Amino acid sequence: MSDSITVRKMQFEFSDEMELVFIEHDPELSFLFLGTWMLLPYLEPYLMRTMRKALSERQDEIGNSSLIHDMQQFCSQEGQHYQQHAKANEIILSIMPEASRLTMVGLLENIESQYKSFSAEQPLEWNLAYAEGFEAYTAAGARTQMELRVFDYMTNPIRDLMLWHIMEELEHRTVAFDAYEALGRGYLYRLRYGVWAQKHFVGLGRQLTAIMLQAFPELVTAHDDAEARRIREAHRKVYLKRTMKNLIGIYMPWYSPGRLKMPPMYEEARAEYDRRALSTAT
Ligand SMILES: [Fe+2]
Ligand SMILES: [Fe+2]
Repeated sequence: MSDSITVRKMQFEFSDEMELVFIEHDPELSFLFLGTWMLLPYLEPYLMRTMRKALSERQDEIGNSSLIHDMQQFCSQEGQHYQQHAKANEIILSIMPEASRLTMVGLLENIESQYKSFSAEQPLEWNLAYAEGFEAYTAAGARTQMELRVFDYMTNPIRDLMLWHIMEELEHRTVAFDAYEALGRGYLYRLRYGVWAQKHFVGLGRQLTAIMLQAFPELVTAHDDAEARRIREAHRKVYLKRTMKNLIGIYMPWYSPGRLKMPPMYEEARAEYDRRALSTAT
């Protein structure tokens, strides 16, 4: 069963004064997220191209009108996500030292061309397996973050950006899976290229994170004392354990995102961002 997928237009206030170390006491984890999110303005449009190609070329095979509607809503949500992330990314790039900015921009151009070549050169089934590999991984991370309520020790506006985004990722968690099930080449192919996709974007995220850490060394040292270390180690231990538990599930042959149990924070976040959205469409 899929949830109703709402497209929420948000207006977050990003500024060059915003707290980049938005996870209390944890610059490395903050930069891991901020670095990885640099690729979203290239990755999410690629997911949208994949869904739109499936809709335009093989809609008859999908058959199910509610899945067709959900695939359209998926594209609209991802469109909002990457635009909000692009605004935050632009500000972060503008406050980076020039050398780091140039390295980052060079890598982002390379990433953009990789995703464009996947759309142009790979078969639709491969792109759908990539999409589901990304979506399953994101949904596992999103559940972990909500189950552990990591947002309690984050600061806005980046907290808002993350919570709104992962809540909508969970809202559309069944779409890439169901689209692959309708048009793909079965479990083993999905597993093979889904895992490839995860290695691919995690690898890119690592490279982007390294540039972020190099760009803001003073923020890393400013949060590095014994107390901060103790707190972040305790948080990370719990986080890692729960992530492993949620991630293992996505590789099982019986994995079905529609059957995942949602944490209480999911409905709380849906209600909160419904209320705060400039406009919504379901
Ligand atoms: Fe997204
Ligand atoms: Fe998504």
